[in-house]
Order: sequence, then structure tokens, then C-alpha cells
Amino acid sequence: MSMATTISEEEFLKRIAAGEKIEANDPMPEEYRTHLINLLEMQADSELSGAYGYIPWIEKAPTIHEKLLVAQIVKDEIRHAYAINKCLEELGIDVEERVRQQDFAYRLTEDDQNIGSERLKADKRVNIFYYPIETWTDFIMFNFCMDRGAGHQLEDALECSYAPWARAINQIFKEEMMHVNHGDQWVERLAKDPATRDEVQQALDKWFNRTMNIFGRPGSKRNALYRKWGLKKRDNNDVRESFRQEIEEKVSKVGLRMPEWTPDYEKAS
Ligand SMILES: [Fe+2]
Ligand SMILES: [Fe+2]
Repeated sequence: MSMATTISEEEFLKRIAAGEKIEANDPMPEEYRTHLINLLEMQADSELSGAYGYIPWIEKAPTIHEKLLVAQIVKDEIRHAYAINKCLEELGIDVEERVRQQDFAYRLTEDDQNIGSERLKADKRVNIFYYPIETWTDFIMFNFCMDRGAGHQLEDALECSYAPWARAINQIFKEEMMHVNHGDQWVERLAKDPATRDEVQQALDKWFNRTMNIFGRPGSKRNALYRKWGLKKRDNNDVRESFRQEIEEKVSKVGLRMPEWTPDYEKAS
């Protein structure tokens, strides 16, 4: 494998501004590599811990058909983790060692705790994956809110400057949309039934708020750097707002009430 080992920041930025895509063996500035690896590690860790959180629901799903669907979702998430870890491996990360060292199955034991944007372990998972999924309605609402939120985030990565990531996201995105559809169908069903409407409203209040917290602060410096390097396209708040609008549409269609969200970064003193 032959490669020029260095490239100036200016020249590199010119390449990506012209729409050129970067491959694993292309020279890249250290700062680019660092931000890219950080984003990939956050996704890889989220996919794997997400899969682990779903596993008990193969057994607890209400019907044999739902057991199959949950098992497929678990398989999808493990495959997403695998694909993103492959991207990391190509960049020289010892992914097996990372996976061995982290406790991706770890969950909070108290469901009602609010951890804001805190991280509880050394892994880089999006912190919503620390909350346990305790009921079937939680599982459904996780599909409805978090898979949808992740979809909005992944939309930026589809067009990012790093080609191996964009290729991996292309397939992942389609599968995430299937998880979202699974959530939508169930939310509609549970919201229409007077026996389950209150429970689904409560689960929406809980998981909507937690999902709104995943996008990060508006105008963050790190987000500006991600955009500079073509690794993200929009400000955190724009992504959050597109997610919120879509939820509002869905929620009003099925007769649920839109939850109120207080930004975590406004509560913090
Ligand atoms: Fe996924
Ligand atoms: Fe998913």
C-alpha cells in the first residue's frame, strides 16, 4: 500500500470542498483523523450497547412474530456495530481490545433517574443507551424516538467527506428506517386503544425528552469542527429541530399530546 503520508490542511480542505471523498489510505490531517475516529467510536459503541439493550426483548416480546422482528433488529444493530468497527479497524484502531474492555451491557437500575448528558462509563455511547428498556411500550417508544433521532443524525453522515463511513451509513440508514416503522405502527395501535393510551403517552414523555438530549448544544465548538471537516452538515439544533417536527406530526396524527422539553443545557447551573 503506497501513500503520501502527509497533506497540508489547506490542500485537504480544498479536496473536500471540491466534493472529493476521502478513503482510509488517503493522507489526512491529524485533526481530521481524530474527529473522524471520535464520531465512529460514538456510533460503534451506541450500536453495540443498543443491541445489548434489545436482547431481553426477544424473549419478552408479546407474540412469536414480534420475537422474530426484535431478533432481526438485534441482528441489524450488531451488524451496524460490526460495520462501523470495520471502519475503525481500517484506521488502525484495535477494535477487539476496545470491545473487550467496555461494559456495553451496563444499564442504570433505576429507570426514573435523569442523567442529563452525563456519561457513566468509559465507552462513548450516546447516553440514552444507559437507560433500561423496562416494558414493551418502552421498546416501541425507543424505536419511535431514538431510532428516528439516530436517523436524523445519520442523514448528515450519508454525505460526509469520509467515503467508507458514508458507504456503511447507506445500508444502516435503510435498516434504521425499518426500526422506525416498527415503532410507528405500534405507537398508532397503542395510542388508539383506550386501555394503553395513557401508558404510551407516559413513555412518549420519557423517551422524547431523552432523545432531545442526544443532539448536543446549539452552536457547539465541536460541531463547528465536524462541519469544517465535512463530517457533519448541520448545527446540532437544526438536526434536533427536524427530529422534533417529525415527532410533532406523528404524535398529532395519533391523538397524543406533544411533550414539553426543557433543554438539559439550560437546566445546568
Ligand atoms: Fe443501528
Ligand atoms: Fe435501530
